Order: sequence, then structure tokens, then C-alpha cells
Amino acid sequence: MKKNNAILSSLLLALVVFLTSCNDNNTTEKEIVKKKADFTMADSSKMKNDKRMSLKLNPMQKNHQLINMRSHLEAVQQIITLLATEKYDEASKVAYKKLGSTTEMKLMCASFGDKNFENLGLEFHKSADKMSEIFKGRDKDKALGALSNTMNYCVKCHATYRQ
Ligand code: HEC
Repeated sequence: MKKNNAILSSLLLALVVFLTSCNDNNTTEKEIVKKKADFTMADSSKMKNDKRMSLKLNPMQKNHQLINMRSHLEAVQQIITLLATEKYDEASKVAYKKLGSTTEMKLMCASFGDKNFENLGLEFHKSADKMSEIFKGRDKDKALGALSNTMNYCVKCHATYRQ
């Protein structure tokens, strides 16, 4: 009988532990839902305080710009991989073709109807032309310096403009 009691009480204990953990999960879920709501509120108040200039783009321009931007990000990732493996000539090609002053890029920058934005975009592409040349020198320190210089333009423009 004593043995049965011992089994019963350990089963009860296990049940209590199980139920407590279920309850914990519930609280966690509730907390996540609350966090999401907090974030949404914080986001919308941040939007109001967003001092960046709007380019007032239409939905088609927005989509076009974001596709272009994702391609810029991809180019930077490719360049880092190529520099790490000392494939300088390939890195130089990616830098010019995907970030440099190609006709396509120049037209894109001009298409958003804001002269200052266009100028910053053109400076950015010129810095990529320079970066492309520097890569040909096969000097990793200089190559990283050039990449950092070009990426300063990404940071600067993102801090100044929004769609
Ligand atoms: C001349 C301005 C300018 C330059 C330079 C620039 N961007 Fe952007 N980028 C923008 C704008 C404007 C947006 C939209 C931001 C917004 O509305 O919040 C954007 C958005 C993005 C996004 C978001 C894409 C998406 O699908 O949501 C990525 C990623 C991005 N840029 C990467 C880059 C990288 C990487 C560089 C540099 C190699 C770069 N950008 C240089 C203006 C610029």
C-alpha cells in the first residue's frame, strides 16, 4: 500500500510539473503576442518620427527600387566572398557591373525625380567604379577600404531618404 502511495504521489508530482510547464508555455505565447503589439505601436510612432525625406515613389517605382537594392546587397555579399578567396578580377567585374556607373544605373538614379538623391546615387556609383579599379591592384587592405567607402554611401542614403 505504501509503495502504491509513493507511485501515486510521484505521478501526481509529474502531472503538476507537466501542467505548470503547459501554463508556462501559455504565458510565453501571451507574452509574444503582447511583444508583437508593443512592436507595432513602437513602429508606427517611429514612422511619425521618421525624419528621412520621402521620394514619394509610386508602387511601380517602389518595387523597381527594392529589386535594385536587393541586387546591391547581393553584390556586396559576392564581393566579400571573392575578396576573401582573393579572386580580385572577378570581384572587380561584379563591382563595376552590379554597382558601377553603368547606363542602367544612371537612368535608374535619374528616374526618381529628386536631384539631390540622383547626385548621391551617382556619387555612390562613381565610388564603385573606383572600387572596381582598386580591386585590380590585388591588395586586400586597400580593397576592403574601398568597399567600406562605397558602403558609406549605402548608409548615408538610407539615413537620408525613404521611399
Ligand atoms: C542613393 C540612395 C541609395 C543608395 C546609395 C543605396 N540605397 Fe538601398 N535603399 C534606398 C532607399 C530610398 C530604400 C528604401 C528605404 C525605405 O523606404 O525605407 C533602400 C532600400 C534598400 C534595401 C531594402 C530592400 C527591400 O527589399 O526591402 C536594401 C537591402 C538596400 N537598400 C541595400 C543597399 C545597399 C547594400 C547599398 C549599397 C551597396 C544601397 N542600398 C545603396 C536608397 C539607396
